[in-house]
Amino acid sequence: MSSAKPLLRALRQEVVWPPPIWLMRQAGRYLPEYRAVRASVSDFITLCTAPELAAEATLQPIRRYRFDGGILFSDILMVPWALGQGLEFRAGEGPVLPPLRRAEELARLDIDRARRALAPVNETVRRVSRGLQQEGFSSTTLIGFAGAPFTVACYMVEGAGSRDFPATRSLAYQDPALFERLIELVTQTTIEYLAGQIEAGAEAVMLFDSWAGLLSPTQFQAHVIRPTGRIIASLKARYPMIPIVGFPRLAGTMIGAYANVGVNAVALDSSIDLSVAARLMAPNVTMQGNLDPFAVLAGGEVMATEVRSILSTVRHLPFVFNLGHGIMPETPPDHVRTLVELVRGA
Ligand code: CP3
Repeated sequence: MSSAKPLLRALRQEVVWPPPIWLMRQAGRYLPEYRAVRASVSDFITLCTAPELAAEATLQPIRRYRFDGGILFSDILMVPWALGQGLEFRAGEGPVLPPLRRAEELARLDIDRARRALAPVNETVRRVSRGLQQEGFSSTTLIGFAGAPFTVACYMVEGAGSRDFPATRSLAYQDPALFERLIELVTQTTIEYLAGQIEAGAEAVMLFDSWAGLLSPTQFQAHVIRPTGRIIASLKARYPMIPIVGFPRLAGTMIGAYANVGVNAVALDSSIDLSVAARLMAPNVTMQGNLDPFAVLAGGEVMATEVRSILSTVRHLPFVFNLGHGIMPETPPDHVRTLVELVRGA
């Protein structure tokens, strides 16, 4: 039984050639049409909670490049925002939240509030699902997403982006009970959030664990593998046919353990050698990745060389072409066009 959509087929371990392609952060500031939508609202959270605008942002890169995947336009930090932790996106500074380091601060978060506050995101998914059909993108797969609990907890505890999240990693060792309760709350919220996206029409979901690579192997087991496994078990029990992609960024050799957590595909960052990854990971897991976003920024022959290197390594494997991390905002849209042509011409 194989769906006609190339991305869904690849996520179900079929070798699809040329491989399906979509890009992390494909909706965003490198596109002038995104900047126009962004300029129509005062702040980023308003954009994420306005279904009509968020659906438009989701569809923009599909119209331009006919990507095989359309990822819901939202943000991983909508979960802490919905739980009642304040959140602000400051221009040039990134996200800012009141840091969560104590039991009283955790006790103020409210999963019922989150359920209500995240309802507009489900409406976005419904609109995109209709939009894809109405605009004739019948081979594009709609991807829902959430942050994985550890990465979401990083921003919640630190209160901002960081290179190495020292407060978060200290808390995990020094007050493991509190950190576990935080991870547990995010896990439970995320299960419901992703189930809502699937009910609304998401055909696959992805978990972004951007900071997984900061952890020691034992901490990786506790804060990445265990909660990710719980999310997957719960979703698979209800929606066995919905593929789940995990992105344990910079996890290095831990991708071997990660591939056994129940994911259908592992999204790999650009530091990973795909031929080594293929040996480390279970044979029934699809690889997704892992072109360096800076190669797309550079374009031209350097990009082409990197693309050919990836394609020659994965020729006989189930694979989804993507970047190793989000596209750089300064990337010329023409470079993305060339990239899509290179992959589709394989
Ligand atoms: O096209 C898509 O990929 C879908 C939308 C999407 C966004 N963020 C939109 C966004 C997705 C999947 C994310 C995930 C996300 N958000 C992650 C995980 C992936 C990764 O990049 O590591 C993380 C860590 C975040 C948190 C976040 N959101 C930060 C640190 C920032 C500020 C830095 C920045 O790039 O501006 C954001 C804001 C954000 N999320 C923007 C977009 C398009 C830019 C805001 C704007 O346009 O003003």
